[in-house]
Amino acid sequence: MKPRVLLTHPLLPEVMDCLEKEVELELATSEALLPREELLARISDKQGLLCFLTDQIDREVIDRAPELKIIANCAVGVNNIDLKYARSRGILVTNTPDVLTEATADLTLALILATARRLVEADRFCRQGKFLGWQIDLFLGQELTGRVLGIIGFGRIGRAVARRARAFNLKIIYHDPQRADILLERELGAEFCSLEELFQRADIISIHAPLTPQTHHLISRKEFSMMKNTAILINTARGPILDEKALVEALKNGKIQAAGLDVYENEPSIEPELLSMDNVVLLPHIGSATFETRRKMCLAAVKNLLQGLRGERPENLVEV
Ligand code: DGY
Repeated sequence: MKPRVLLTHPLLPEVMDCLEKEVELELATSEALLPREELLARISDKQGLLCFLTDQIDREVIDRAPELKIIANCAVGVNNIDLKYARSRGILVTNTPDVLTEATADLTLALILATARRLVEADRFCRQGKFLGWQIDLFLGQELTGRVLGIIGFGRIGRAVARRARAFNLKIIYHDPQRADILLERELGAEFCSLEELFQRADIISIHAPLTPQTHHLISRKEFSMMKNTAILINTARGPILDEKALVEALKNGKIQAAGLDVYENEPSIEPELLSMDNVVLLPHIGSATFETRRKMCLAAVKNLLQGLRGERPENLVEV
């Protein structure tokens, strides 16, 4: 008999076929997010769960699923899952690292350029018919060459951002609980420093840390007060790492110059004041949204799920 699996949202069509062949699939019917009540009801007889970062897999959900063997998250971040509780119940948890590194790093650079050179603001200006000819002081922005990029979290994505940043002649400083190998630091031209020093020295600060209790509100009022008033803040990691209300304040009071955000503290809600600020670029959590990457994420999640259901050690097992 095939294992019973709940899929909370359709995967890309070409991957769906491969999953349907292997398992008895129950697919959430709606195009929108799976309502919690429905998740709780449908999980009860399943051995596998394939879910997304928008699904909160907490104790209540896990307790409803006595037969559950594996939770395969189609994302690298696993902050939506109670990992410790899953582990205590002997349930495997997997994620989709590596495959989204390059796409997310690309988007980070796009946000750096968009904020430093005011691209979105300038685009709006053209569409509103305001471009009446070249002007010496029209949309002046920040040049990247020679500026300091501070990377918070120097894992796969942080390093991929550093690689790209070198091509723009940015000087790279970074902070991570674990200092990188000296050879890698040399290869990337990256200098390790404390968080405090990073806030003080960086012209551009980019967040690439996972969301954990330790990184929740890692950047709040106190940290903004240490930054340069010309600083640009980029977040393509997880919204709650940044205190969004403190960010609004910092932008309003000129404590920093601009922000580029792909993620939000209470996603999909966005602090209303950010919506009317010209010095903020807002994206709808699309860091990994390329055809290639999303396909690879779906394939990785399915592979992990099937390995776990067969009793094998999944390739991307999350260690707690
Ligand atoms: C992730 O995978 O955690 C990203 O936020 C979405 O791809």
